[in-house]
Amino acid sequence: MTAGPPVIEACRTIRPQILAAQAAGRRVGIVPTMGSLHAGHTSLVEQALAECDDVVVSIFVNPTQFGPHEDFDRYPRNLAADCDLLSRHRVRWVFAPDKSELYPPGHATRVEVTGPAEPFEGRLRPGHFSGVATVVCRLLQAVPANAAYFGAKDWQQTLVIRRMVADLGLPVEVVVCPTVREPDGLALSSRNAYLTPPQRQRARALSIALEQARADWQADRPVTVITAGMTASLETAGITVDYADVVAAETLEPLEDLPPETPAIALIAGRLGETRLIDNLLLPPRGDTAC
Ligand code: PAJ
Repeated sequence: MTAGPPVIEACRTIRPQILAAQAAGRRVGIVPTMGSLHAGHTSLVEQALAECDDVVVSIFVNPTQFGPHEDFDRYPRNLAADCDLLSRHRVRWVFAPDKSELYPPGHATRVEVTGPAEPFEGRLRPGHFSGVATVVCRLLQAVPANAAYFGAKDWQQTLVIRRMVADLGLPVEVVVCPTVREPDGLALSSRNAYLTPPQRQRARALSIALEQARADWQADRPVTVITAGMTASLETAGITVDYADVVAAETLEPLEDLPPETPAIALIAGRLGETRLIDNLLLPPRGDTAC
């Protein structure tokens, strides 16, 4: 195994290093993750490296964003393999805190975002975005980076984090990076490891449904027809649909009463057995066939 970047576990150790780098005029980027790293995560690392002098990757499986019946216990964890992967990138620090570092004994404070945190994942996973907002806020205190990198794969999460950063006046730039996919279109996700080979085959239906939504959107079909089409093709592949919708990309509101040029996004979430997958696709302006 190649020597990876130093792994720092304490807030009191990482914070002064970040401040010292910034005092020396260096721009610092953070890529928050829950580990089990794949090429989606490393694409964020590469974008951060291109735009910053120093990059820190945080690895913390955050208990507060998992519901009581979700996969916190079985979520894949492998710090050694993650550090090995990161050793192939120019990451300066890995921040891998213990739970007690981010959530001190007796902790009783949470960050609660409304608005973009309410529909879709917010409705189906109560408390999830509060857990995400709380941990990202804590991570940004420990690592007061200039820029924080997040994947468009978790589109609603990026809206929640942007809202929190704006509302709390956090001095960090939020950067959203494109989704990395397998050759057959499946978005990379740590949860793909749960899929059996037949489920993995059927999971292709998610990206196929999104491509179908894009084609229907460009053909000016009504949203109701597009969502029915996505739902039908997911169900045909044996996927239990939590939602399949087309909404305003920046607010997640229904498009009906909004101007036709409002940027739109197709969002889907579905379950294959015990495994829940989400994906999305930003839609081009109606009538624009360039992409
Ligand atoms: P995690 O699921 O580990 O994802 C870490 C970051 O990688 C997120 O910003 C996510 O959107 C991004 N990512 C995941 N798959 C991707 C893909 N296929 N292409 C591009 N980016 C991808 O998201 C979380 O962790 C947590 O909620 C976290 C923000 C770390 C807070 O605990």
